[in-house]
Amino acid sequence: MSSRYFDVYAEWKRDPEGFWANAAADLDWFKTWDKVFDPDAGVYGRWFVGAECNTCYNAVDRHVESGRAKQTALIYDSAITGSQQSFTYAELKAQVVALASVLQNQGVRKGDRVIIYMPMVPEAVFAMLACARLGAVHSVVFGGFAARELATRIDDSRPDVIISASCGLEPGRVVAYKPLLDDAVDMAKHKVRHCLILQRPQQTCELIEGRDLDYADQVARERAAGANVDCVPVAATDPLYVLYTSGTTGQPKGVVRDNGGHMVMLKWTMQNEFGIAPGEVFWAASDVGWVVGHSYIVYAPLLHGCTTILFEGKPVGTPDAGTFWRVIEQHGVAALFTAPTAFRAIRKEDPDGEFIPKYDLSKFRTLFLAGERADPDTIKWAELHLKRPVIDHWWQTETGAPISQNPIGLGQLPVKYGSPCVPMPGYDVQVLDDAGHPVPNGTLGNVVVKLPLPPGCLPTLWNADERFYNAYLAEFPGYYKTADAGVIDDDGYLFIMARTDDIINVAGHRLSTGGMEEVLAEHPDVAECAVIGVADVMKGQLPLGFVVLNGKVSREFAVIEKEIVKLVRDRIGPVAALKTVVSIKRLPKTRSGKILRATMQKIADSEEWKMPATIDDPVILDEITVALKERGIG
Ligand code: COA
Ligand code: AMP
Repeated sequence: MSSRYFDVYAEWKRDPEGFWANAAADLDWFKTWDKVFDPDAGVYGRWFVGAECNTCYNAVDRHVESGRAKQTALIYDSAITGSQQSFTYAELKAQVVALASVLQNQGVRKGDRVIIYMPMVPEAVFAMLACARLGAVHSVVFGGFAARELATRIDDSRPDVIISASCGLEPGRVVAYKPLLDDAVDMAKHKVRHCLILQRPQQTCELIEGRDLDYADQVARERAAGANVDCVPVAATDPLYVLYTSGTTGQPKGVVRDNGGHMVMLKWTMQNEFGIAPGEVFWAASDVGWVVGHSYIVYAPLLHGCTTILFEGKPVGTPDAGTFWRVIEQHGVAALFTAPTAFRAIRKEDPDGEFIPKYDLSKFRTLFLAGERADPDTIKWAELHLKRPVIDHWWQTETGAPISQNPIGLGQLPVKYGSPCVPMPGYDVQVLDDAGHPVPNGTLGNVVVKLPLPPGCLPTLWNADERFYNAYLAEFPGYYKTADAGVIDDDGYLFIMARTDDIINVAGHRLSTGGMEEVLAEHPDVAECAVIGVADVMKGQLPLGFVVLNGKVSREFAVIEKEIVKLVRDRIGPVAALKTVVSIKRLPKTRSGKILRATMQKIADSEEWKMPATIDDPVILDEITVALKERGIG
């Protein structure tokens, strides 16, 4: 197999600035940069300093002006309602312009924040692009988060306007968004001026006079009036969006994405990493509330002039395990990007892949998997039944695009199962021990990236340079800490094994066990608690709670457990998926008081474990083993 990867990676290493300046030439700029990279700007340097651009212009207008006006830009396919809608680039522009005009009428200007709390409907994409058009900063909040999580994000990003919908649709369940939105707005200290509400026919809602506006009415009015809103030039270094992701506490981290570097990186990945040509159909089966949705449902495919698919549904049950193949056939999808958990769900329903040959997959070339570790079994099953390359790639909300991948666009490298392959240009990935020394190949350690991070990665956290520095840059000076543990082998392949912090990965969703512990501790009967992630064959990991009850509690534990599960659902949201809580007498701790979560996890996962030398009270681990066995765990 021959791949251009090694030459391209070497080219980047030789001249990173020249490399990214070349990539930037594929986009339109209102004003070119003074410096490709300025090491003295920002926390660790900034890309394309002095340049002016607009992301919406590059994702929409540019294509309308250069011959793609009639090409489909966006296909909305709802497997839940059975409805579909297509938008050409010209129609996408008309929708975005009208909404930008509505926002402008509400006083939204360059630099102002707009929260988007929406289900998977085309209006969510219009909303992101309308903000980009105005130079306003969007912050999309995933619909599976509860009111308190939304309130935290309102207080941190301080938006003028929130764009939301009356409801979301989960299989067999209508999720009323409006009560969650109202609660969040009430709970937040920051006062939002207006909420723009999309009324969905499945469940409409009451609008609050003076605060709420009807999305459809407002947009229709602007369209009828022939409103025109030009793309506002912004600095390449200005923020395009803030996306909150789980941190090590209940306080989420506001990952900032700039305009210029982000466009350059995403556009480059489409051809070179994903092997997709402009005009092809690209489908990321994720949610706009996650980074995968931002990068590969919305921005990258549109920047590249592709057709993107917005899918409302699940890989199974909407209506069956053939849904993905139906979408691929019907819309001529060239590449599908999803999380391994989706394939585990399909495999469980359809172990022999019987749905697959029922559909015409002739245009489908490649499957991309990311968001969690891709287990070799799942990859092999997909390869066997799809007879196409299955590409594992590793990245994070913080990076916005793959750190490592099998670069199929440059020529596929040999697959090593369990490895998301090799670092992409821009990333000098190394493995260090806890003292910051490089470890020999094959040795497990902290996976870090030598600074500067490439264009597109977070320059900082929203209004929190110091937190950014402390969380990511302080521990290994000169490097970005990924908080993943892993190995690099003699061929330069990476293996990502586990997080080094309290983040767990449930069905491809990133959650903080620390955040859940804060909720458990709120329950009046709980004296102490711990939450760990345990292995799950379907979702990769599931949270498991341990509580030590207050001395005087005599109520039945099953009742308390139900209350705790409900509390987590109410506070964090259904996506937290905490379903089991075990009552124990004491938490296992070191003599200095550190909870031995890693040992608890090994017990719950039935892995071999050693008695930690520093344990305070060894007997408790046997008690935990028994308590877990009683619950059928471990
Ligand atoms: N709004 C409201 N509730 C939501 C939601 C949303 N946008 N998204 C998920 N939820 C709810 C679900 O209904 C579920 O509620 P339940 O406990 O009442 O059943 C809960 O949150 C957990 O959701 P999820 O983790 O998605 O589990 P699931 O059982 O509904 O589906 C999979 C499991 C594997 C099919 C699904 O997670 C999946 O397709 N994952 C892969 C794709 C993906 O989204 N990856 C993310 C990043 S690439
Ligand atoms: P998120 O920010 O939600 O994208 O989650 C990022 C985390 O998911 C990473 O730090 C990894 O722990 C994990 N992850 C994502 N992709 C992969 C992959 N391909 N292999 C292993 N872990 C992954």
